Amino acid sequence: MDIVVSGIRPTGLLHLGNYFGALRNFIKMQNENRCYFFIADYHSLTTHPKAEHLHQNIRNVLIDYLAAGLDPEKAAIYVQSDVPQVCELSLLLSMQVYVGELQRVSSFKEKVRRQPDNVNAGLLNYPVLMAADILLHRADKVPVGKDQEQHLELTRDFAQRFNHIHGTDYFKLPVAYNFGSELVKIPGLDGTTKMSKSDNENSCIFLSDAPEVIRKKVMKAVSDAGPTEPNQPKPQAIENLFTLMKAVSAPETLQFFEEQYNQCQIRYGDMKKQLAADITAYIAPIYERILELRSDDDYLRKVLQRGAEQARESATQTIQDVRELIGIKPL
Ligand code: ADP
Ligand code: TRP
Repeated sequence: MDIVVSGIRPTGLLHLGNYFGALRNFIKMQNENRCYFFIADYHSLTTHPKAEHLHQNIRNVLIDYLAAGLDPEKAAIYVQSDVPQVCELSLLLSMQVYVGELQRVSSFKEKVRRQPDNVNAGLLNYPVLMAADILLHRADKVPVGKDQEQHLELTRDFAQRFNHIHGTDYFKLPVAYNFGSELVKIPGLDGTTKMSKSDNENSCIFLSDAPEVIRKKVMKAVSDAGPTEPNQPKPQAIENLFTLMKAVSAPETLQFFEEQYNQCQIRYGDMKKQLAADITAYIAPIYERILELRSDDDYLRKVLQRGAEQARESATQTIQDVRELIGIKPL
């Protein structure tokens, strides 16, 4: 049985991109694998969230996880900081990681560009902590969206280096995983190529958005005056509407609007109405469960307690093995 590990930072509510890029795969994987799904609260500290926001977001992400279909009977669902063994593994790995290689990571370079006033050491070390999350359970597969590919590559580098230095094959080399043929990227409603709450909250449809909110957001999505000649390539914002439709609508619906587009007969108002209705229908079961879970703190606490126990068991074993391989053992 393969071991699967993945996490999402609690920086807000989960959106359609998180669902298609990560959550949907978590749910499919929990049936056939040993899964560890966590809320990456340590990772979210790089942006210095207010304590009450962080606390609230951890709860929100847990609710979204469960509502989307993560099953605590099948997978260990936990909060990263409930398993502090990850800090020790991160520290140990960091001794074999070079500052230069961390400075070359594209997500780090992007942060340096975007938030030059807060280039903290946690940001630089981010890929090491992430590798520790994954190697802590000796994962085979990591379901994540395309933006995480480079982090996964580094995880393999660090694992391989550890193995090489200590003459072992202890760590497996985990791969990024998606059920479809390739890693997906859900575009934003703002015409950009990625739906992302960190870039622009307004580009996102959240799993907890009410139908009316979804309708308003989709109707406001960026589009244009429509094609002027048949069979033209689509501008990015229009391509985005089609990509979203491909994710949530029936194939016939998509085909209908493709034909309308190619014949220059498309009316984006109609397409958006259909898209909003299809998104609403797609997430309706999740949305309803979110509303229920919001008032069930007892259950939420139990899920996390159990998940943390399972994760700590696996983590404790890894730390014991790694310490021994490194030469830290009782005299
Ligand atoms: P955000 O960009 O909104 O801050 P995160 O970076 O917290 O989202 O992403 C959490 C998970 O969701 C990651 O596995 C990431 O790959 C996936 N993900 C986020 N946005 C998208 C998207 N637009 N398309 C596909 N996957 C995504
Ligand atoms: N870096 C991931 C993100 O931004 C979150 C994450 C942290 C993660 N640790 C992980 C994902 C381990 C998979 C496995 O989305």
